Amino acid sequence: MNIQEESKKYFLEVYKRIPVTITHGKGVYLYDENGAAYLDFLAGIAVNALGYNHPAVIKSLQEQAAKNLHLSNFFVQEIQVKLAKKLIELTPFDKIFLTNSGTEAIEGLLKLVKKWGNNRSKTKIISFHGSFHGRTLGAASITGQDKYRKNFQPMMPNVEFVPYNDVAAFNSAISDSTCAVFFEGISGEGGIKPISDEMLSAIVEGKAKYDYLVIADEIQTGVSRTGKFYNFEHYSFVPDAIASAKGLGGGLPLGAFLVSENLNSVFDYGEHGTTYGGNPLACATGLATLEIVSRPDFLQSVNENGLYFKNQLKELQKNFPDLIKDVRGSGLMLGLEVTHSADKIMQMGIENKLIFNVAGAGTTLRFVPPLIIEKKQIDEGLAILSEILSDI
Ligand SMILES: Cc1ncc(COP(=O)(O)O)c(C=O)c1O
Repeated sequence: MNIQEESKKYFLEVYKRIPVTITHGKGVYLYDENGAAYLDFLAGIAVNALGYNHPAVIKSLQEQAAKNLHLSNFFVQEIQVKLAKKLIELTPFDKIFLTNSGTEAIEGLLKLVKKWGNNRSKTKIISFHGSFHGRTLGAASITGQDKYRKNFQPMMPNVEFVPYNDVAAFNSAISDSTCAVFFEGISGEGGIKPISDEMLSAIVEGKAKYDYLVIADEIQTGVSRTGKFYNFEHYSFVPDAIASAKGLGGGLPLGAFLVSENLNSVFDYGEHGTTYGGNPLACATGLATLEIVSRPDFLQSVNENGLYFKNQLKELQKNFPDLIKDVRGSGLMLGLEVTHSADKIMQMGIENKLIFNVAGAGTTLRFVPPLIIEKKQIDEGLAILSEILSDI
């Protein structure tokens, strides 16, 4: 049995695995067991901001590993404090809670907004069709895609889903009983769809009228992915809280939620907690990553390369107008909506040594490469994609 067959034998089959056995990565390339190189436009699903084997990340990991792997949150941990300080300095938020994953960051925020709302008789949560907030029951309850909820009823009650970017529907859904609105600035799993300016204005105006909390899910859009450290910095308002994960740990499992001052004493001692959240190794790789990706020159390169990537995708659209319906996204979070089977194109990508995946109910190719990608590597990947589209 080869390792692919062994994997099938032992694991619950919830993942459609890529039929390539990767042994290691370097920079923006992955290498299989035969030494073949694959250009990676997926980055572990928007995780590996600095690609693979980045010396600063490895150094930080090794230094922390020599000190301790885990202490528990009974202890104040220097590396956690350094990471928290860095994040608070980089953002307008007041306090942070560290988790292991994105879905746990959402769970923590759900508890926080529920407690805040319960004290004010506000019980309803608004979320959007097509959104994705995670797989645990609370996060799945506010995920606006039927396939993630339908077989797991009953879920958390008092959630209303509004069509994405439908201002009229949103305005009729909100009221004095609205406790919180959860949104993604660019819906990732939903197909790289940006929230509209009109929708953002409606969220802000509704907040002024009904006094609810605005929560940005920055799990995919955060940590410099869209050309700002957090995506909401593109807007003229600050959410009450954000959820962060993916790129935050620099490749190790780390999530967080950050809250504004008005929320920093909602939880009492013992009302929330985690054994592993804020694991020191993950904080070490996360801190090394943040120190690089938050620099203005780094952000500028994400913006420049992202714009270049997007413009090249638009050129591709001109060459294949029947196959490419839309080009969306910002920074290095880009999507190509196609008319042909996106799954098939993804498979052809793997065969041609280009890794990306599919979002948006099977219609959109998602490109979230390591943020260190350079123009020549973008050209290399798009030349492969162009060949694939020619073959179709
Ligand atoms: C916007 C968004 N929210 C939440 C999650 C869940 O994060 P995790 O898989 O780390 O639990 C994801 C993961 O894809 C995401 O993209």
